[in-house]
Amino acid sequence: MIKPIIAGNWKMYKTPKEAEDFALKLKKLPVYGDRDILVCPPFTAISCVSRILADTGIYVGAQNVFPAKEGAFTGEVSPLMLKDAGAQFVICGHSERRQIFKETDDFVSEKVKAVIEYDMIPILCVGETLQENENGETFSVVRRQLEQGLKNVSSDMIKNIVIAYEPVWAIGTGKNATPQQANEVHTFIRSVIQKMYGDVASSIRILYGGSVKPDNIDSLMAEREINGVLVGGASLIFESFTRIVDFNKLM
Ligand code: PGA
Repeated sequence: MIKPIIAGNWKMYKTPKEAEDFALKLKKLPVYGDRDILVCPPFTAISCVSRILADTGIYVGAQNVFPAKEGAFTGEVSPLMLKDAGAQFVICGHSERRQIFKETDDFVSEKVKAVIEYDMIPILCVGETLQENENGETFSVVRRQLEQGLKNVSSDMIKNIVIAYEPVWAIGTGKNATPQQANEVHTFIRSVIQKMYGDVASSIRILYGGSVKPDNIDSLMAEREINGVLVGGASLIFESFTRIVDFNKLM
């Protein structure tokens, strides 16, 4: 049985004070043994959120990283700094990074490698744009992003990686992929990892992201190949995030 992850990607929302208030509420949640909970605040709030959540079992992650220990990279944040601030996971290759900041597959693969080197867990995001989807390129795009994004990941390291399938046309648009559509792509993702790494593929966590809300979480989590979700907008409001955390999959 794969333990699911419910992950919140706060994007560029919440000041440190707002993040602190949210974390203090999260701290009061019951401990869930059958699912992992993760929040990814902006850089400026990682250390205060991780201090507050330290003994709760709730994980804290970062939304991005620069793949070098330190150096003259104005405006960037290193994996060492993230780790020291309390991050345990790092989102790599989110579609907003790929599209707005022109991150290439190659650069994303450097990030994945750097995160692993610092004993944190990368969440490698893959997913096709609307146009690629309409052109029937979903599988080829996702395969390329996986093969390139994982190219620095050895078979010893793959077991710790998390993949997030986030169709770009579903992010922030209110148009989620149907659970069946997502499940089909997740099945494909697992088959690509199986070809690259063998049977360990069956234990890799593959999350779905893109307009996950309280009213679609249960049907998404009912799909066999969906091992959790990466939630943007709905993770910013405590009540909707906790409803998502509380999805009622029969475990
Ligand atoms: P959304 O974002 O839930 O607001 O669609 C998901 C994401 O970008 O990770």
